[in-house]
Amino acid sequence: MSDFSSLGLSDWLIQQCKQMGINKPTPVQENCLPAILQGRDCMGCAKTGSGKTAAFVLPVLQKLSEDPYGIFCLVLTPTRELAYQIAEQFRVLGKPLALRDCIIVGGMDMVTQALELSKKPHIVVATPGRLADHIRSSNTFNMKQIRFLILDEADRLLEQGCTDFTKDLEVILSVVPAKRQTLLFSATLTDTLQELKSIAMNKPFFWESKSEVRTVEELDQRYILTPEKVKDAYLVHLIQKFQDEHEDWSIIIFTNTCKNCQILMMMLREFDFPAVSLHSMMKQKQRFANLAKFKSGVFKILIATDVAARGLDIPTVQVVINHNTPGLPKIYIHRVGRTARAGRHGVSLTLVTQYDIHLVQAIEGQIQAKLQEYSVEESEVLKILTQVNVTRRECEIKLESTDFDEKKEINKRKAMILEGKDPDLEQKRREELEKIRNKRKKFKQRIHESIQKKQDAIKRKPQKKKRLLQEEGSSHQSHETGE
Ligand SMILES: Nc1ncnc2c1ncn2[C@@H]1O[C@H](COP(=O)(O)OP(=O)(O)OP(=O)(O)O)[C@@H](O)[C@H]1O
Ligand SMILES: [Mg+2]
Repeated sequence: MSDFSSLGLSDWLIQQCKQMGINKPTPVQENCLPAILQGRDCMGCAKTGSGKTAAFVLPVLQKLSEDPYGIFCLVLTPTRELAYQIAEQFRVLGKPLALRDCIIVGGMDMVTQALELSKKPHIVVATPGRLADHIRSSNTFNMKQIRFLILDEADRLLEQGCTDFTKDLEVILSVVPAKRQTLLFSATLTDTLQELKSIAMNKPFFWESKSEVRTVEELDQRYILTPEKVKDAYLVHLIQKFQDEHEDWSIIIFTNTCKNCQILMMMLREFDFPAVSLHSMMKQKQRFANLAKFKSGVFKILIATDVAARGLDIPTVQVVINHNTPGLPKIYIHRVGRTARAGRHGVSLTLVTQYDIHLVQAIEGQIQAKLQEYSVEESEVLKILTQVNVTRRECEIKLESTDFDEKKEINKRKAMILEGKDPDLEQKRREELEKIRNKRKKFKQRIHESIQKKQDAIKRKPQKKKRLLQEEGSSHQSHETGE
């Protein structure tokens, strides 16, 4: 394996790396760093926790030190927490440069951000939505000179998930220069390769870690088959077990909805577990505060939605529990990748109901590895089943009384207004559409019924004929016998 200096990295950066415990380049760094330093576009696909961030931060800092100006580099990433984490890596590694960075994410004050942008920071790290808002609404900054455009978690930025970034990306791409270096990184690039190539247009250098299994070797991947109703009891049992056996372990629990996230947190707290939550319905300040509490180890359990599935680098995380089986193998890869990072060991546990077995098969197909069953004392789980389920119900009632659903509706309306839509009009439109759909459904049903009737009648006709013939035949006979 080569060292950083043979890859062309300057001594001052090598010193900075050493201070962070980065002594030898990881494969993604070894392969992508020289190409980026040569001025090529680059697409890097390497497993979770393999040092992709430094693979782009280091060459950008080196180029910036040779020709410092602002805005030199724009980094886009799908989540706010990830934006802060990337900015921190730039700050730490770029300390000798007196680096000026600026973080542009939703949920924070726009005026402050606009002011910071106007001061021409060297590096801007942003989530696409908020940056596009600034571009649309302000002319106090421009990105005409940027040398580097980086998309971290590039496949997520391009796919049309529940948060769709494609429109915002278009706005951003329309204001950055065509002559630039584009760097795209993720642990799961391959499904979106074509779309990515349209962004990194200059014959990008493409590097993918060569390994059949798409999750890291140090990760022990387990599953537990459970009926839906026993899931929470398993969860409480597992956490109790891990806390008894390993006091210092931190655990991330992923679940599918914000509401579930909140309920699970309340429930675990009822059992005296130190739990905090992270989901997109929380105020941004709360999100940061909760993540900080978890990172510092004050709270050992984080319950999160997929907003925390990608990129977060928290070395103390020893266990990832999937409270729901992820619907997409890709999401599974990122979720379990929050543990077993940078050569450390970790465990992932996926709770699987009978309805999720096909999802597990899809996951195993993609990662090219089999999940092993995790054995649990079932009698221990059954002992706490009633208590856990009653506690959950109590938490649900408590949450309902705080108008969680109503808040969700208000948030939805706010988001629509921000998108320039009228929520009432949208609601009416949706109702109209529903009416049309229902009418069509009824119409189809009527046609279907009448076709069915006709078919039945046709089927019945030959039988009727047969019966008539039989009746005729028998009357004939009776004539002949003289009856
Ligand atoms: N060469 C290195 N040697 C040792 N540790 C490293 C090296 N490069 C990076 N690291 C550390 O490895 C950890 C994981 O790095 P990073 O967050 O960049 O992973 P990633 O590949 O982006 O993962 P993900 O796909 O989950 O985003 C970080 O704590 C980082 O400081
Ligand atoms: Mg990363």
